[in-house]
Amino acid sequence: MDIWKLRGGSRLEGQCFVQGSKNASLPIIAASLICPAETELNNVPRLRDVDSALKILRHLGCCAEQRGNDVYINSTGISENKIPHALMLEMRSSVIFMGALLARCGEARLSLPGGCQLGKRPIDIHISALRKMGAEIDEDGSNIYCRAAKLRGCELFLPFPSVGATENIMLTASAAEGETVIKGAAREPEIEALAEYMRRLGCNVIGDGTDTIIISGTKPKAQLCYRVISDRIVAATLACAAACAGGDVELRSVDAGHFSTVLHFLKQAGCDIICDKHTVRLRSDGKLYGVGDVCTQPYPGFPTDAQPVLMAALLKAQGRTIITENIFENRYRQAEQLCRLGADIQIDGRVAKINGVERLVGVRLEATDLRGGAAMIVAGLNADGDTEIFDEGHIKRGYENLDQVLRSLGADIKLL
Ligand code: EPU
Repeated sequence: MDIWKLRGGSRLEGQCFVQGSKNASLPIIAASLICPAETELNNVPRLRDVDSALKILRHLGCCAEQRGNDVYINSTGISENKIPHALMLEMRSSVIFMGALLARCGEARLSLPGGCQLGKRPIDIHISALRKMGAEIDEDGSNIYCRAAKLRGCELFLPFPSVGATENIMLTASAAEGETVIKGAAREPEIEALAEYMRRLGCNVIGDGTDTIIISGTKPKAQLCYRVISDRIVAATLACAAACAGGDVELRSVDAGHFSTVLHFLKQAGCDIICDKHTVRLRSDGKLYGVGDVCTQPYPGFPTDAQPVLMAALLKAQGRTIITENIFENRYRQAEQLCRLGADIQIDGRVAKINGVERLVGVRLEATDLRGGAAMIVAGLNADGDTEIFDEGHIKRGYENLDQVLRSLGADIKLL
């Protein structure tokens, strides 16, 4: 059990580098399987989910290791197409190995993935797309068995721009005969990162970053190197922490465009924000204003992953904020815990109304999920007295050395 101990009241000041993106690293690690190659990845965060993805690769017969923030993978000697249930349960992204294995082996045996409990997280869009591409898929509610004598490119219309389904289709399409056109594709920066990695691997991918992605064949390269993009949700978390605690913080090695919707609301809340090519400087006196309506949307809309931390930043803001969560059905699990600090949050279905309060007071909390746990840290930095967050390891699934980063900015936080 991790115990995060923090004392509110310190301003955050200074500069910090933002880690590489978890949600870009994980599908790229799965993608390293699609053809035999030696991959070097740089700027990969050291996280439990990354360890899980590398464990899956090793189980399948690849060499895979992380040294610092570099990952080395040799996927030439793959010997297995089955992923054990225990490994599948370690994280959500394990489902992306379905497309990768199908592309490489024409067969994949896995089970439903784990990950944060954010309500129903079906994979119907993944499965129906892969079936249209020629895969036969048997699933019994827990095991999934896929095989394809031949994968064929086709035109697919996604009913929702699912990030995971778009990734799985891209990987499967790399081995399909002919052209695969994904209409209604996810447009997240992590999709562009995967597309860029696949291009370096020799795949023909165009249109990523738009809602139509076209994949047409692969001429595999034997060796490649790719630097993972920075983590826009970690950047958003640090910006939210500095906004409510008050301070003057420079986030380095970020792409402000990737979290501009979050910065937009922080500006509206009263922060002074200057964006440069790879830095964002945020100044705040800690006195924030409610921002009215915030709706989570697929990219380029406001990200669901930043919703809990923005909520936490605005708990003491003067006025009201009304959040509508449109991506996950149960992504307010942090709210009950935040109310224990004295917050005024009313939840009605997908809508959360936050009325700013004068004061938050530190208590003992339980981390509910990854971003919910991060939200409790943000709120604790803005509470009077001591907050203790008991965490079964959720926060470390997505944040590398978060305690050290915040301490370097002046926060009073310890991870026991
Ligand atoms: N959905 C379906 N059917 C499907 C696929 C998705 O109904 O076949 C629904 C989901 O139930 C959900 C919504 O569509 O309600 C969005 O799901 P999506 O597939 O887009 O999300 P994901 O691939 O499971 C990734 C990130 C999440 C992030 C979402 C949305 C990774 C490993 N995870 O999940 O990140 O919230 O996209 O942007 O990339 C996190 O990092 O904390 C996290 C949860």
